[in-house]
Amino acid sequence: MTQNSDDTNSRLKLLEILVSNEGEIIPGRVLAEELKSSRQAIHKLINALKEEGLEIESIPQKGYRIKDFKKTDVISPTLIDLMIKGNKLFHTCLFFDEVDSTQSIIKKLALQDAPEGIVAVSDFQTQGRGRRGRTWCNARGKNLMFSMLLRPNMRTGDIQLLNLAAGLAVHRVLKNIYDIDAELKWPNDILVKGKKICGILSESAGEPDRIYFAVTGIGLNVNMTREDLGCDLDKTATSLFIETKNMIPRPILLRDILDVFSDMTEDIGAKEKIAKLLLDYRAACATIGREVRVIQDELEFSGTALDITEQGALVVRTEKSDMVFAAADVHHLRLKA
Ligand code: BTN
Repeated sequence: MTQNSDDTNSRLKLLEILVSNEGEIIPGRVLAEELKSSRQAIHKLINALKEEGLEIESIPQKGYRIKDFKKTDVISPTLIDLMIKGNKLFHTCLFFDEVDSTQSIIKKLALQDAPEGIVAVSDFQTQGRGRRGRTWCNARGKNLMFSMLLRPNMRTGDIQLLNLAAGLAVHRVLKNIYDIDAELKWPNDILVKGKKICGILSESAGEPDRIYFAVTGIGLNVNMTREDLGCDLDKTATSLFIETKNMIPRPILLRDILDVFSDMTEDIGAKEKIAKLLLDYRAACATIGREVRVIQDELEFSGTALDITEQGALVVRTEKSDMVFAAADVHHLRLKA
């Protein structure tokens, strides 16, 4: 069924009313008055929301009710519209049951001059991409995989700062909202007890002094079980469900990450904003002070991670010299005594 924008807006308004009165039965008559429409039209809209997978009760002669909204895990188009409502940066969220890669979707839109602030989220990726050409595995309907279109006012060489901001945003949400002590490994891997829970990929196009667009993609393992991970990945990866034993509703998690990330990236080109980002990042980053092995292309270096530069690069003290890595793979070795 195709949806026109009136229908989209009406679904959103209806869902908003039900959610803000969670647990209460709202008569069809009241909803019809609020939406300036007929009870029959409300009935149709409710059915459309149910078809999106939302659990709405229709109580004969009484009305409609949404219960346990905060536990909703289905990423329905109207629900994600509701989740980004009021976000400072993100105004459009496209949902795909299945897609090759949300990165590719957003890149295509960027090349067609789409404005910044679009998010593509998918329940399943057939060609999910990780850093350095790796594949990004997923289990249908269990994880959070999304990409965001940004047009930051910054130089191409500063793109790593976006990566840092994305990692910091996820790290902060995991800590503040889910009480998970995750490790933020430079530049933006998030680990729990040494196993990867989240990966971030930023790609950009531009000239040396100006970014045309950046696409930042986040893959967060949310409700994957050990069985979903399989034997190989189980040794190196984990999920929020495995760590907390709780199923985590993905729409609210998405909202929280987008809220924190948009706060961090608003005006990201401004000096004070970069300074604050770096201050927060350095404080949260578990790589600083650690013995690390850094792999860059075919080369390997070992040393102590000392600092993060103004451009988000990692400074490592090796036996011979202090080296600066703009991008590389880092392995944490033991904690420094
Ligand atoms: C990494 O750690 O290697 C980065 C992984 C990034 C995965 C996300 S999932 C959403 C977006 N779409 C992709 O194809 N990749 C990113």
